[in-house]
Amino acid sequence: MNPGPPQAGSAPGGLVIDGVAKTFEDRRLLDAVSMRIAPGESVALLGESGTGKSTLLNLVAGLEPVDAGRILVGDIDVCSLSADAAAALRRQRIGFVFQAFHLLPYLSAERNVAVPLLLNGAKPAQALDEARRLLADVGLASRAAAMPRELSGGEQQRVALARALVHRPALVLADEPTGNLDPATAGTVLALIAERVRASGATLLMVTHSEQAAAIADRRWRLDAGGLHEA
Ligand SMILES: Nc1ncnc2c1ncn2[C@@H]1O[C@H](COP(=O)(O)OP(=O)(O)OP(=O)(O)O)[C@@H](O)[C@H]1O
Ligand SMILES: [Mg+2]
Repeated sequence: MNPGPPQAGSAPGGLVIDGVAKTFEDRRLLDAVSMRIAPGESVALLGESGTGKSTLLNLVAGLEPVDAGRILVGDIDVCSLSADAAAALRRQRIGFVFQAFHLLPYLSAERNVAVPLLLNGAKPAQALDEARRLLADVGLASRAAAMPRELSGGEQQRVALARALVHRPALVLADEPTGNLDPATAGTVLALIAERVRASGATLLMVTHSEQAAAIADRRWRLDAGGLHEA
């Protein structure tokens, strides 16, 4: 199924995880886990290291195939998409803050942030303007022209966050988005996430170990050996 034309900011879609299973080699990581996030709702996903939180985000974004089950982003079943259609879905409707940032090493901070807008057809000058605005919002106005290798871990994390929010995605997947930040900077960044998510009616699924970050969510889920459940 093709996700259709760009819907950034205009298609609040909930998330349904329905009976999802995932095994790596002979280790069953997720076993028939199910959960539902209403459109516009924010959920903090907690759980010990190695329980499969990042894997779950990868499945939701269509970056890894499920072994069984269904994942609906809005009305689109991610598990039934071709690789191209999954890429289109990510480009148009999903903002992903990766745990390891995954900035493009050969692009400046502002160009990294502009990428989702450019891929969705924005004019380069407008995309760069918007990218710089968001970098200013995360306290990086003076670092916009820097290359990723010149940035600290916390700065790279904020660039990754700006890139995930810049196209006003309907679904924001954030993997420990404040893991490298001091409490004051984390507070600024969390306020931005909350404000952008609320303003565009987006759905947020945020992996975090931080009480400060979990506090911006409407609900908490926990992933552990017993599966995925409300915490
Ligand atoms: N592509 C892969 N191939 C094989 N094993 C994998 C793969 N991806 C993840 N795993 C394994 O799945 C388990 C869960 O990994 P995952 O990264 O989802 O955990 P996590 O809950 O995000 O942990 P953390 O809190 O440390 O980030 C780990 O044991 C990891 O080694
Ligand atoms: Mg992880």
